[in-house]
Amino acid sequence: MSQRILILDFGGQYTQLIARRVRQAKVYSYVVPWRTPADELRKMDPTGIILSGSPASVRFTDAPRCDPGVFTLGVPVLGICYGMQLMASMLGGQVAAGDKREYGLAQTTFNTTHRLFADMPRQSPTWMSHNDGVTMLPPGFVSIAHTADCPNAAMADDDRRLYGVQFHPEVTHTPEGMRIIASFLRHICGCTGDWDMHGYAETAVARIREAVGTGSVLLGLSGGVDSAVTAALIYRAIGDRLHCVFVDHGFMRKGEPERVREVFTSFFPVHLTCVDAADRFLDKLKGVSDPEQKRKIIGSEFVAVFREEAAKLGKLDHFAQGTIYPDVIESGAVPGSNVIKSHHNVGGLPRELGFTSLVEPLRMLFKDEVRALGLVLGLPKDMVQRQPFPGPGLAIRVVGDLTREKLHIVRESDAILREEIDRAHLTDTLSQFFTVLTNVRSVGVMGDERTYFAAVAIRAVITDDFMTADWARIPYDTLAHISRRIVNEVPGVNRVLLDVTTKPPASIEWE
Ligand code: XMP
Repeated sequence: MSQRILILDFGGQYTQLIARRVRQAKVYSYVVPWRTPADELRKMDPTGIILSGSPASVRFTDAPRCDPGVFTLGVPVLGICYGMQLMASMLGGQVAAGDKREYGLAQTTFNTTHRLFADMPRQSPTWMSHNDGVTMLPPGFVSIAHTADCPNAAMADDDRRLYGVQFHPEVTHTPEGMRIIASFLRHICGCTGDWDMHGYAETAVARIREAVGTGSVLLGLSGGVDSAVTAALIYRAIGDRLHCVFVDHGFMRKGEPERVREVFTSFFPVHLTCVDAADRFLDKLKGVSDPEQKRKIIGSEFVAVFREEAAKLGKLDHFAQGTIYPDVIESGAVPGSNVIKSHHNVGGLPRELGFTSLVEPLRMLFKDEVRALGLVLGLPKDMVQRQPFPGPGLAIRVVGDLTREKLHIVRESDAILREEIDRAHLTDTLSQFFTVLTNVRSVGVMGDERTYFAAVAIRAVITDDFMTADWARIPYDTLAHISRRIVNEVPGVNRVLLDVTTKPPASIEWE
C-alpha cells in the first residue's frame, strides 16, 4: 500500500464519503484531523491531500485552519468547498459571503483543457452547499470553472499542484464528481489505482503476524459480519492460535448459531468455544417488558458470560475486535487526534479482562469493504451479506416480556419471511426486513374453531444510512403468500400485519 491519500477533516458532513470515493477509485485513503501538524502528515507519506468541507466559515477567527506547511509539503492538495476557501484565504486570496446563496445544484462550465476536468463535458451540474465563495484568487492561481453566480467555482495553481473546487465532487448529485476525483488521483497525484481487497488482505495478514508474534488472540464472535471477517482474517494470519468465544443468547435468527458453529469449525477451524446461554438470558429477563430494561439486561449478561468463558480459557496475549472505520471516525480516534476515546462496541471489556494489546484489523475499512474482504477470504456469501441485526436480537422483536413460545413465533415467522423474500428475488432490493411479534391478540377462525391468537407484523425498509427509512413496497402477491404461510405454519398466530410507517416518526425496530 505505497500510495495513499490523506483527507484532512474540518468537520464536513461528507468527509467519510470523500474517503470512500477515493477508495472506490482504488486508491487507499484515510481521514486525519485538521489539526495534524505538517511534520506528522509528512511522516504518513501521502501521495496527495484532500481538504474536506466544513460547516465553519473562514471569515471567522475561530475557524479551523490547517498547518500552513500542508501547502509546501510538495504533494498535490485538493480543497473541497470549505477546503478551497481555506486554501484561498491562507494563500493570500479573498473569501466573502455570496450575495445570492448558492445552494443545491448549479450548472457549471469547466475548462476541459485542464487535467482536473479531462474527458468531461464542458457543462454539467455540481452540488454547492456553502454560503461563502472565493472572490479573489490567491497569487499563482487561475479559475478553471464557473457558474452564473460564481466566477471561481474551481481554481488551480499547477506549479505548486494546489487545487480547489467550490462544489462537492464526492456526492452523487454532482454527476461528473467521481470523474473529477479520479482525475485528481490519476493525472495530478500520479496514483496507479491498484489498491484492492486482495492486496489489503495480504498487508493486513502481515501486520497481524507482526503484532501478534508467537502469541495467542481472543475474539468474541457475534454472528455479525464484522466479527466473522475479523476471525477469518486473523485465522489466515495465525491459524488456531486464534481462540473465539461465541455466546448464543438465544435471540439469534433461525439457523444462525448453527451456521456460526459450522463456518468456524469446518471452513475456519479456530479454537471455538460455543456457549448456549439461552436459559440464563431468559431467566434474567423473566417478566421484563420495558425495551430499555431488556437491552440493559442483555448487554450486561452478555459481558458476564463472556468474562466467565474468557477466564476458563486462561491467559491469552491479545484481544481482537471487529471495530470498523465509521466507529473509529465517530469516536474521534483517528490518527493524530487529541481526544482518543475508546470505541463503545465492547466498552472497557478488554481492559477489564486484563488485555493491554488490541488487534483491530478492520479499523480502516468501511462496511462495504468489510463485506468485500470477507468474500476475498472465502467466507460464505450469506454470512458476509447479512443484513444489520441488533445486538439484543429477537428479544427486541417480541414486544413486551419474553417467553420461549413467543421467541419461537418470531423466529419461525422471520424464517418464512426471509425464505419468501429470497424466493421472490427481493432480498437485494431491501435494506432490512423482519417480523415482529406484537402484543396484540385477536379473534379468528381456523376450521370450525374460534381462535384468540397473536398478530405478527412485517417490517421491511429501504434506507441508505438507517437514520431515515422508507417502508418497502413488497408486491401484494408476495405479501399474500407470506401471510398465508405464517398463519398456516406458525402455531399461535392468526393475523399478519404490514408496517407502513417511515422513519421518522417510527423507528425501524419496534423496541
Ligand atoms: P432503529 O430501530 O433505531 O434502528 O430505527 C436503526 C438500525 O439500528 C439497529 N438497531 C440496533 N443495533 N443494537 C444494535 O446493535 C441495538 O440495540 C439496536 N437497536 C436498533 C436496527 O436493527 C436498525 O438496523
